[in-house]
Amino acid sequence: MKTTITEIAADTFRINTFIPDFNLGFSQFLVRDDEPLLYHTGMRALFPIVREAVASLIDPAKLQWVGFSHFEADECGSLNEWQTIAQDATAVCSMVGKLVSVDDFASKNPAKGMNDGEEFSTGNHSFKFLATPHVPHNWEAGMLFDTSTGVLFSSDILHQNGDVAALTSDSGVTELVRQSMMEMQASPLADYLPYTPNTDATVKRIAALKPKVVASMHGSVYEGDGEKAIVEYAGILKDLFGPKA
Ligand SMILES: [Fe+2]
Ligand SMILES: [Fe+2]
Repeated sequence: MKTTITEIAADTFRINTFIPDFNLGFSQFLVRDDEPLLYHTGMRALFPIVREAVASLIDPAKLQWVGFSHFEADECGSLNEWQTIAQDATAVCSMVGKLVSVDDFASKNPAKGMNDGEEFSTGNHSFKFLATPHVPHNWEAGMLFDTSTGVLFSSDILHQNGDVAALTSDSGVTELVRQSMMEMQASPLADYLPYTPNTDATVKRIAALKPKVVASMHGSVYEGDGEKAIVEYAGILKDLFGPKA
């Protein structure tokens, strides 16, 4: 396993750990600000690695916010560990996530449950939250968009397998996403993503944020026309997971 740290936008750092056995990287993102925010914690097994990486950027005891899209081990598995070492560490997630799972899972500091369209600030960075049920997956899913830098924390959207570059501006990244989803479909992890009557509209609503940087959990961060890439992603979902004619 190797862990790398890359600044992908102003005071926004990608902390990536590549796990060869899964042929998959897991990225956590730290926004260094008055109220530091970690987006994704990674699985509990990664906690010592992520803590050390965060400690190279900020005092980890000062972490204020732990953001994530949905309730899954790679998204928020070590939330309790963070609340043990950082007194004020508070989850910021969808209201559904808070009410259904997060406050039961990590009860020390009740989560900040976000409603669709709600905004908040960590100092120099301002964020907008979108509720995106079942996109990429799970009822409580949401997206956090940094309106100050144009970074979309996209969770499993634009997931790419493999040991890839930290950052890419190659619009061909969506072809790699398609290949990765096909590999998933041919594996024990098939049916990773649901396709509902609302999927296409929800994905296009995310695209309409017009992100300059799409910070996926798995694979390269894409810097470029985020709207175009995410609209292409909507097409990939339809092709691979949508109803068959
Ligand atoms: Fe996920
Ligand atoms: Fe994930």
